Amino acid sequence: MPKNDLLLRALRGEEVSRPPVWMMRQAGRYLPEFMELKDKYDFFTRCQTPDMAAEITMQPVRRFPIDAAIIFSDILVIPQAMGLPFEMRPGVGPWLDNPVRSAADVAKLRTGDVNDELKYVFDALKITKEALNDEIPLIGFAGSPWTIFCYAVQGQGSKNFDKAKAFAYTETKAAHELLQKITDSTIIYLKEKINSGADVIQIFDSWGGMLSPKDYQEFSYPYITQIVDALYEQVPVVVFAKGCWYALDEMSQSNASALGVDWTIKPSVAREMTKNRITLQGNFDPSRLLSPPETIQKMVKEMIDEFGTTKYIANLGHGILPNIPVENARAFIEAVVNYKK
Ligand code: CP3
Repeated sequence: MPKNDLLLRALRGEEVSRPPVWMMRQAGRYLPEFMELKDKYDFFTRCQTPDMAAEITMQPVRRFPIDAAIIFSDILVIPQAMGLPFEMRPGVGPWLDNPVRSAADVAKLRTGDVNDELKYVFDALKITKEALNDEIPLIGFAGSPWTIFCYAVQGQGSKNFDKAKAFAYTETKAAHELLQKITDSTIIYLKEKINSGADVIQIFDSWGGMLSPKDYQEFSYPYITQIVDALYEQVPVVVFAKGCWYALDEMSQSNASALGVDWTIKPSVAREMTKNRITLQGNFDPSRLLSPPETIQKMVKEMIDEFGTTKYIANLGHGILPNIPVENARAFIEAVVNYKK
């Protein structure tokens, strides 16, 4: 049990002296020490070298009084291990030469043995766990099956994931087979992340909000539920479904311990929709970290006042942006740490 157990207490819904705080993508391009490694090694080399991944994970932990570490890795390591060789192209982002476009492509993908190729992630977790010395919890993560499906079929990032949606709506049977294969691999992978030291798991459904509420129920939510149900007896699970405010009520009745919310929903509305059943995490607009530190501090206080201090984890509404001054990130974290009603 980590000495600082604020995050775990908030996930259990217990009373806390102040809310825990961490930032999505807290190890990232806004940190000069991250940029030094980024300039020397390509993205997946950083992910695949356990000592380096652990070092990058620790960078924000050394700088800021945050209440959790999140392992440095990527959601795309799962499709890579299933047989889809994603690259990270500078200026382009995720890139796959031969995206999944047919039932035959789906049939070729591996599932059962994904962990053979992902030993580097488990080693990174073990090294990070040692470095953390039981001070704060370590978060492990994966993409939701729908979000991985988006990249696997589109083959790259997209404003609307039109090709992924076309595949879902025309080759629906093959689409469900692909979603199930991703789900099966993700469960195997996350169980080993837990064995390797992850205290909490977060599922990133970054592109769930591209779906209509009805399609969310068909293509995303059932697969997230399978993952949550497979893990929740071992560790608390956080589901961050960006843009999926319409599903908050239903998700609050799942076995997840917390729901991440983005900045487009008022904290009071998220509370009402979830009927105070579940811990909420979020939802500071990442771009608002561009405001002067005094403004950030004031807005963070307002955010906590509105969410309340119990059943709450302070975070951003999505990942931190590369152009955020380090001192503004610090102002965000310190405003939570020093919060007084
Ligand atoms: O939160 C953390 O600090 C842990 C690390 C983490 C990364 N990616 C590192 C990363 C996490 C949790 C992710 C998840 C991830 N990866 C998501 C879901 C979260 C979200 O932001 O919606 C998605 C959609 C991906 C896929 C991905 N990886 C994209 C779209 C990009 C950006 C590409 C670009 O050109 O900016 C990445 C790259 C990536 N993953 C970076 C980092 C720090 C930045 C690129 C780099 O360092 O070279």
